[in-house]
Amino acid sequence: MKTTKTISMLAFLLTAMVFVQSCKDDDEPEPTTNNEFVADDASFAGWDSWDLIDTKNGIDPSLSGAHAGNDSTAVRKIYVKDAQKAINGAYPTGTLVVKHMKSDSMEMITAMAKRGNNFDAVNNDWEYFVIMADGKIVVDNGTTMRGSTGLMNGMCVGCHSKATTDYIFTE
Ligand code: HEC
Repeated sequence: MKTTKTISMLAFLLTAMVFVQSCKDDDEPEPTTNNEFVADDASFAGWDSWDLIDTKNGIDPSLSGAHAGNDSTAVRKIYVKDAQKAINGAYPTGTLVVKHMKSDSMEMITAMAKRGNNFDAVNNDWEYFVIMADGKIVVDNGTTMRGSTGLMNGMCVGCHSKATTDYIFTE
């Protein structure tokens, strides 16, 4: 009796594990309003072929040094996957935005993903990233560069909270 119980418990656990695994292998979820969207390296691949919604050049005091805002040679490009727009003032879960900036002295790619599911409800559930050209999320000294209030002491989310539409400046 005990053995049967153990075996069925094991079978249940295995099924659960296979289920979790197959969810992980699923294709990238399309933007939805209910589910949680946890971006991974593959989510940002090919970001430079997404819709380019704005290009900005040179010094921008409002950036106070962020995004190479004090660099006259900087070019900043903003890409949005599937040209996703805010719907009634909010971007749907799964929305992906990338900002590429390049100047004579530096290149940096930052990104935001609408994660949803109360990931950081007071800050509209966006997750912030620093990524590489191939879309992989940067790992800096063992720290994966992703998060909201936990990433760079909340610097990204702190400034983006001032944007008029759902933490996104560029519309
Ligand atoms: C001091 C303010 C400030 C900080 C700090 C900041 N940003 Fe931004 N960010 C902006 C502004 C302003 C824009 C709009 C584009 C522009 O003016 O260049 C922007 C644009 C973006 C965009 C394109 C979407 C949009 O809102 O227009 C992404 C993605 C982004 N930032 C990610 C990040 C990440 C990730 C961090 C932290 C590593 C970060 N930002 C830190 C001010 C900031």
